[in-house]
Amino acid sequence: MKVLGIFGSPRRGGNTDILLEEALKGAEEEGAEVDRLHLTDFAITPCRECHGCDQTGECVILDDMQRIYPRLLEADVIILASPIFFYGVTGWAKALIDRCQALWARKYLVKDPSLGKEGKRRKGFLIAVAATKGERVFEGAILTAKYFFDVLNAEYVGELVFRKVEKKGEILGHPEAIQQAFEAGRRLVLERREVRRMTQWKCSNCSYTFGADTVPDRCPSCNQTCTFSDVTCYIPDCGGPGNIDPRLLGKKDKPTNE
Ligand SMILES: Cc1cc2nc3c(=O)[nH]c(=O)nc-3n(C[C@H](O)[C@H](O)[C@H](O)COP(=O)(O)O)c2cc1C
Repeated sequence: MKVLGIFGSPRRGGNTDILLEEALKGAEEEGAEVDRLHLTDFAITPCRECHGCDQTGECVILDDMQRIYPRLLEADVIILASPIFFYGVTGWAKALIDRCQALWARKYLVKDPSLGKEGKRRKGFLIAVAATKGERVFEGAILTAKYFFDVLNAEYVGELVFRKVEKKGEILGHPEAIQQAFEAGRRLVLERREVRRMTQWKCSNCSYTFGADTVPDRCPSCNQTCTFSDVTCYIPDCGGPGNIDPRLLGKKDKPTNE
């Protein structure tokens, strides 16, 4: 399982960096492969609203973002970390998010199945920190994160936010916050690993039933072009044999992307 951490603060080693690093350590402890994306290492041009992506789902701006698209798409879990800048995410994070308009076009205009219902289901999580105690201080960032994750077929599974944290590294004075970040990273991996919803296809010709992410051209058993009926089942995420009877799943364990 791949977990992508997006470091959205320009202040290296700052509060959100510390929290995200902790969450990624938690994910690593559960065996996830972690990819760290420090946005200050990249030059991302803001979206030009040229609609050059409308027909193809590909952004026409050939800058560092081209190296980031594949990393977004490879991830199973995405954790976006950003301090609050003027009631939203930083410009660094927003530039990346706005450039995902190309993925929006790929999903909703080009209707690329890899970003549709049959495509990979991801999970998205937000980490944010703000200096003030404003009641609504995270609302803008949460909404932005939700719509960013939606484009990536990532279910928004929650956020970890802390108010009244301003100076660089101040969050280290709150060990419970560090612990919560670590646990959030662990949980993101554990919850996704428990069960994965998968479609099984049953061949109308020979009744052979098999799992596949998209409808196949021919039956792998009888090699006939035939119609397939789909049966939803739950398989262990390890990819091992067998599937889990959904009735055995506790309600809270059921995937929410049904
Ligand atoms: C440009 C800028 C805008 C900010 N806007 C807000 C804000 O609207 N509300 C708030 O509570 N804190 C605001 N802050 C404070 C940061 O969110 C806070 O210092 C945070 O801890 C920084 O996290 P970091 O160390 O990960 O960069 C702002 C800071 C900067 C530099």
